[in-house]
Amino acid sequence: MKKIRLQTKNIGKTYAGELIIKNINITLREKELVSLLGVSGIGKSTLFNVIAGVTAPDIGQVLLDGFDITGQAGKVSYMQQKDLLQPHLKVLDNVALPLFIRRLNKSQARTEALKYFEDFGIAGTQDKYPSQLSGGMRQRAALLRTYLFSKDVALFDEPFSALDAITKRAMHRWYLALMERINMAALFITHDIDEAILLSDRIYIMTGPPGVITAEITINPPRPRADEFLVSENFLNYKRQIMKLLAL
Ligand SMILES: Nc1ncnc2c1ncn2[C@@H]1O[C@H](COP(=O)(O)OP(=O)(O)O)[C@@H](O)[C@H]1O
Ligand SMILES: [Mg+2]
Repeated sequence: MKKIRLQTKNIGKTYAGELIIKNINITLREKELVSLLGVSGIGKSTLFNVIAGVTAPDIGQVLLDGFDITGQAGKVSYMQQKDLLQPHLKVLDNVALPLFIRRLNKSQARTEALKYFEDFGIAGTQDKYPSQLSGGMRQRAALLRTYLFSKDVALFDEPFSALDAITKRAMHRWYLALMERINMAALFITHDIDEAILLSDRIYIMTGPPGVITAEITINPPRPRADEFLVSENFLNYKRQIMKLLAL
């Protein structure tokens, strides 16, 4: 079994006296793609904010490689749900931001960031502004920025949800291929059942309120998955199972 990178232990969080999430125990192993699936408002982003150290839990711990990082920001890469690129910065400077923060000088940071533009499918966009890019390209730029932040454990909050269905499908294909080439363990949030089945090694189902993990599903076919998987009986069986768990 692959080594556990990230683990939450019994996380609970309240806002203004209201219990938002409770007893959250999840794990993310080396090179794994795991999704957290649940309806809007159930507490998915709240959990990510806790894991990323943006906010502290009321109870519980977050462990990275066995070390307690509860409440500490900057230990894992985090692409927030409303993580828009800075409109006044060129794409290259947006992407290189985590490298500036790591005190690389500007020209070194730009050179380093530029190396990945081809792989992330945004070659040639470096001198444009975010508003000049398509939605899919903006998301890829934001994904690259997240990747450059720490490289191997990342949280993505609904990275594809703002895209139209066709662009989204292209992004799924691209994302699966990318994940084969880079060494990253990724936890991502979605409310799209098909997306979760297609992209994940495992899916945690969150229901509530308060948000609790009520099921964990392993998706067996190896990645990257061929297009036929999307229309297979196997896929539909997973979908049926998940719809039942979400009471849809
Ligand atoms: N900073 C905050 N202060 C107060 N309430 C919050 C805050 N963040 C989220 N909430 C509340 O927590 C609940 C879960 O929100 P969220 O985690 O964003 O859900 P999801 O990401 O699953 O849509 C919502 O009722 C939301 O209003
Ligand atoms: Mg959210």
